[in-house]
Amino acid sequence: MYLFPLLIAIHSIVGILSFSAGVLVVLVVIFLMATSNTGEDKATAKHKVYKVRGRYFFALVICIVAGLFITLSFLPYSRFHAKADESVTVVARQWSWAMAPGNYIKKISDFTGSNEISLAAGKNILFVVTSADVNHNFAIYNSNGELLAQTQAMPQYKNELKYTFKEKGVYHILCLEYCGMAHAYMYGTIHIQ
Ligand code: CUA
Repeated sequence: MYLFPLLIAIHSIVGILSFSAGVLVVLVVIFLMATSNTGEDKATAKHKVYKVRGRYFFALVICIVAGLFITLSFLPYSRFHAKADESVTVVARQWSWAMAPGNYIKKISDFTGSNEISLAAGKNILFVVTSADVNHNFAIYNSNGELLAQTQAMPQYKNELKYTFKEKGVYHILCLEYCGMAHAYMYGTIHIQ
């Protein structure tokens, strides 16, 4: 909730930046058009351009590699490779969620679960998500309506999603993949104690 104004601020800064970049491109094109045909030897011009291009290439490679290393820590890989403390099976169907503790391996049509489940705070929970009919999307929201984690719920596939609920409280599940008439009413609740 508190992040929303920040999101809007970033949004408008990015908007201004991309507009400025667009203007810059237009100015460069105008500059090139105005300064071309100065009678300069074609081979010399080519050599000059290639030299500049080489330098820009190296600068770009350095920027990309640096960017990669800086942003790697933001990726959830380490979190995902951590050992799960508990697992929960999630079965989506038109139009409800069924959840039960454990990793269910028998026939999906025999699975029984509830659209509410209670889990412990601070535990790394492995959600094993599938669907009994069409594609759905299992999306977990906090009480501020912020999306915390999501994965597709697909028939005949088991998608794994690990998430640790740090705070106690009520979390909501919605479907993020349009799955028919009552798609918007696929509610579920996770109580974290
Ligand atoms: Cu299930 Cu949308």
